[in-house]
Amino acid sequence: MSTVDDSSTWETACPLDAVREGTPRGLKLKGIPVALYKIEGAVYATHDVCTHAYAHLSDGYIEGHTIECPLHGAIYDIRDGKCLAVAASDLKTYPVKIEGDTVSVLLPRAEGGSGG
Ligand code: FES
Repeated sequence: MSTVDDSSTWETACPLDAVREGTPRGLKLKGIPVALYKIEGAVYATHDVCTHAYAHLSDGYIEGHTIECPLHGAIYDIRDGKCLAVAASDLKTYPVKIEGDTVSVLLPRAEGGSGG
């Protein structure tokens, strides 16, 4: 019946109109920093912390389908998290669904848990 990975859950993020076109919105869901973006009417979610050092991408700048880190200018494709400049690692992205006026994000059950 379920089509999503059992280890992930949909978390309600915010009302749809709280995500403004061209302005990233940062929030914490299940302790995970998440950045939401609305681009041409579509909503995307990525991890909110740059993979280069420590900066919130929700403080950064959207240009087309990319987000630029405010600290040293790393650039990521918002759609797939691909790093296009500066940082070495890609950004984690999360599936988004919109039901009525509510944005939800599919997040792993426990991120960064105790690993072996
Ligand atoms: S912390 Fe984002 S580019 Fe350095």
